[in-house]
Amino acid sequence: MKRIGVLTSGGDSPGMNAAIRAVVRKAIFHGLEVYGIDQGYAGLINGQIKKMELGSVGDIIHRGGTVLYTARCEEFKTLEGQKKGIEQLNKFGIEGLVVIGGDGSFQGAQKLTEHGFPTIGVPGTIDNDIAGTDYTIGFDTALNTVIDAIDKIRDTATSHERTYVVEVMGRDAGDLALWSGLADGAETILIPEVTYNMNDIVDRLKRGAERGKKHSIIIVAEGVGSGVDIGKEIHKKTGFETRVTVLGHIQRGGSPTASDRVLASRLGAEAIELLLDGQAGKMVGVESNKIVSHSIEDALSRKHEIDQEMYRLSQELSI
Ligand code: F6P
Repeated sequence: MKRIGVLTSGGDSPGMNAAIRAVVRKAIFHGLEVYGIDQGYAGLINGQIKKMELGSVGDIIHRGGTVLYTARCEEFKTLEGQKKGIEQLNKFGIEGLVVIGGDGSFQGAQKLTEHGFPTIGVPGTIDNDIAGTDYTIGFDTALNTVIDAIDKIRDTATSHERTYVVEVMGRDAGDLALWSGLADGAETILIPEVTYNMNDIVDRLKRGAERGKKHSIIIVAEGVGSGVDIGKEIHKKTGFETRVTVLGHIQRGGSPTASDRVLASRLGAEAIELLLDGQAGKMVGVESNKIVSHSIEDALSRKHEIDQEMYRLSQELSI
């Protein structure tokens, strides 16, 4: 293999730039040429492909977002779109591809592999919803952003003696809500993996108020439903003054934490090792702090599970 390509796809996540840097530098270290593809699979189809040098990835390790831009691409879900992408890769003489993104991006990577094009996936998403890795790139940064926001919300919640509902991202996964709720001592954490009962939430809030508790924080994962609706229901059933904050895309931005930068560097570099080793259709990940790889097909067929023990603990600590 002489020439490889790299793209970022789907929702951006902090640390994607550190992963791009690792891919480019590790590839050049091994004597490969690297081409960057702008705007994910959309840019691949359109041939938005450029040569990258060592300097192309200078001064980006600390930056959020992705210097290769990103997109969600419906056309690449079609055979037609995939063929156009492979034509472009062939036209540029690219022999292997690294795809940095979430599960939607991995589906594209799997298709390329099935068409005989060697592709490796690097998990980059704030959702932490990919099986085969304990953490995805961007999760830690988003978690810290959420915690910073909840700390601030807590100040005003205490001052006004209010109930606050905070809706966090995560798509269908509850990791961001669970981890931030545990880290911030939230009274209640609602995640899609666990069915909730509104009467239990109301009882818990009332018990807290009887004990003299002046405020409460309820974290709602977006996969559970609308935080605004849940806030309205809580107000209706308790009469407590309730406010809702939907954190939104603030969770996707910002400079990556040290942890995300290190993870991105390790995973990006490993993707190159796999390509050089002649592997294809694999994703890299970290399990028990060891760098691992799994088949993308296998990872896509499984569900990333929440840590049930951690969930139980969050409940025990917020009685
Ligand atoms: O997958 C990352 C994510 O931020 C999810 O948490 C969220 O559901 C979704 O992307 C939002 O997508 P968009 O940026 O297209 O609004």
